Amino acid sequence: MKIAIVEDDINMRKSLEIAMSDYKEFEVKTFKNAKDALKGLDDSFDLVITDINMPGMDGIEFVKELNGRYEVIIMTGNATLSRAIESIHLGVKDFLLKPFDVDTLVDAIKREEVVQKVKKSVAKTKKTANDFLGSSQALKKVLAITDKASKTDASILLLGESGVGKEVFASYIHKNSPRAKKPFVAINMAAIPENLIESELFGFEKGAFTDAIEAKTGQFELANGGTLFLDEIGEMPYGVQAKLLRALQEKEVRRLGSSKAIKIDIRVISATNANLDEKIKNGEFREDLYYRLNTIPLNIPPLRERKDEILEIAEAMIAQNCQKYGFDVKTLSPEAKSELLSYNWPGNIRELLSVVERSVILSENNEIQKDELFLDVRK
Ligand SMILES: Nc1ncnc2c1ncn2[C@@H]1O[C@H](COP(=O)(O)OP(=O)(O)OP(=O)(O)O)[C@@H](O)[C@H]1O
Ligand SMILES: [Mg+2]
Repeated sequence: MKIAIVEDDINMRKSLEIAMSDYKEFEVKTFKNAKDALKGLDDSFDLVITDINMPGMDGIEFVKELNGRYEVIIMTGNATLSRAIESIHLGVKDFLLKPFDVDTLVDAIKREEVVQKVKKSVAKTKKTANDFLGSSQALKKVLAITDKASKTDASILLLGESGVGKEVFASYIHKNSPRAKKPFVAINMAAIPENLIESELFGFEKGAFTDAIEAKTGQFELANGGTLFLDEIGEMPYGVQAKLLRALQEKEVRRLGSSKAIKIDIRVISATNANLDEKIKNGEFREDLYYRLNTIPLNIPPLRERKDEILEIAEAMIAQNCQKYGFDVKTLSPEAKSELLSYNWPGNIRELLSVVERSVILSENNEIQKDELFLDVRK
């Protein structure tokens, strides 16, 4: 297994190099910063292990740049734990809280090795559309409002921590709305470069600007008749916010470079895990747009407030994963169950799903044990 370790602290880097040289099965290359690593990484690497807090490009930016090309383990100090949670969003499955001893790291690497092997062994199956799971009291309350709101055209603002299921809710609302047979168009403000958001939303005519060799239909037009999901709305550039508000109020859009107004009929759902009140106070988010988007706010509670559904979701996902990997059905030991219930799930359902999938792959027997959840290295 070929491993890249990215760590700016020279002492830590050298001691990792020395410690890892005892393991002949691992070929380790260290990098002192993310930029060097990006230059040095090629297809021969199987795993990237990175620090978060580094000068220049930090670990999270680095993981974003890698864009899922490698499996990643994050090494994090307590101060950057919240950023480690962010990394779960980017697909990171494992993180180690500093200080840790080398055995802990080696164990994590070996786990990763097994997981990679098993994953490679199954033919690439299409990701099964995740059914909506959950029956907690907290979620039921939200679902009751959701069901009512779905039937209307009211704008819905989905609020909640990363990984609670805002996107899942958005699509649930669409599917249960009168617009279900019309398009559901999702656009993520955080994923599009700032200067392209406007043309992405509204489209442009041929010749509208130098690079506009061909006309492009905007997402507003594509969603016509259906639902437009504006994800990570808090990241929308201030300048575009006014244009969005105008389009929503006048129910029409103009492509860039065109004077022709196009009528649009859409339902808007937006989502954010940012604190919009704060952004409004700081002059980063328009209050008038906030009220326009927020006809019905839906607060999706974090998983730690939905304890009564943790086991249900875990067991359903275990069954699904066992099928995916061709294992006999596995169960959770009583201790594993209490571990799942007592962990506080900062990465919410996304984190639960990844913990469960790994435990299915890594467990020795058909009963998954507490220590096969590998939650203790995160606490
Ligand atoms: N109730 C649920 N049942 C089953 N799977 C769920 C449920 N809620 C969320 N998930 C799964 O959890 C993961 C995270 O959900 P989702 O992407 O909707 O979260 P999010 O709130 O949009 O997070 P972020 O703020 O980080 O974008 C997804 O893989 C999703 O399929
Ligand atoms: Mg989301």
